[in-house]
Amino acid sequence: MEKLIVPGSASRILAKNLSLEIKATVATMEIERFPDGECHVRIDISKETKEVIIIQSTHPDDKIVELFLLQDALREAERIVTIAPYYGYARQDKKFLDGEAVGARKMAELIQEGCDEFVTVDPHKKEIMNFFDIPASYCSAVPLIAEHIKEKDIDMVIAPDEGALGMAEEAAKIIGCGYDYFEKKRLSGKEVKMEMKKMSIHGNILIIDDIISTGGTMVKAIKNIKRQGAKKIFAACTHGLFVGKAIERMKKAGCDEILATDTVESNYSRISVAPAIAKVLGDK
Ligand code: R5P
Repeated sequence: MEKLIVPGSASRILAKNLSLEIKATVATMEIERFPDGECHVRIDISKETKEVIIIQSTHPDDKIVELFLLQDALREAERIVTIAPYYGYARQDKKFLDGEAVGARKMAELIQEGCDEFVTVDPHKKEIMNFFDIPASYCSAVPLIAEHIKEKDIDMVIAPDEGALGMAEEAAKIIGCGYDYFEKKRLSGKEVKMEMKKMSIHGNILIIDDIISTGGTMVKAIKNIKRQGAKKIFAACTHGLFVGKAIERMKKAGCDEILATDTVESNYSRISVAPAIAKVLGDK
């Protein structure tokens, strides 16, 4: 069955990498913006194309509208798989306070209107997948990150909060070292509180998280670990949003190397998640 990959403008590099992994063609298409900012898409699609794979991270917001337009332009295809390598709004997975929207659920409702299957990478919580009524699956970037960083002689892997403990454990197993985690309390969108936990820090440390946004969480963890005598500090994440001065703040705090995957494309996208996505697609 001939497969066509349709890249949104948020995921062009990853789409190219995926096309090499699964031997699919990347569509010829146009994505433009009108002077008022509205998006216009047009895709070349032949009648022989049976399965279409749209790949578009749903961040920032304008990329979400673009995804809906891509789905609409392809609505006559026999089967549409939507891959959102980074699933935006995943952290709004429940009502923390009365009157709040559950963003992760709303996104699922809207995305599944335009496709038959959904795939993502390291969703903030795996329970988010239950918001979908269509087949929805995810893969993890952790094995790829761990294999990539193994050569740096990592002595310990740290999760900056309990939510990332599973990632730290998995990475530590692949690297062959110990792991631990900090306890974090989020005070606001920009501010976090982290307990000063005494750990048996020595040598090179990898701090791993699913998302780096403002860098606030990483900065706290980096300072904590630095004070406890770490030699080199590596900060890795699946989804590098790097909002504002996140990179500068992390470097200033004592981070030696920052790396992320290509779920969100940036200068720090050192690892491609294409092999992990290809495996999920192939497992069907
Ligand atoms: C939240 O629990 C996530 O796993 C990340 O720790 C968080 O999104 C990072 O945000 P920031 O970089 O703004 O501290």
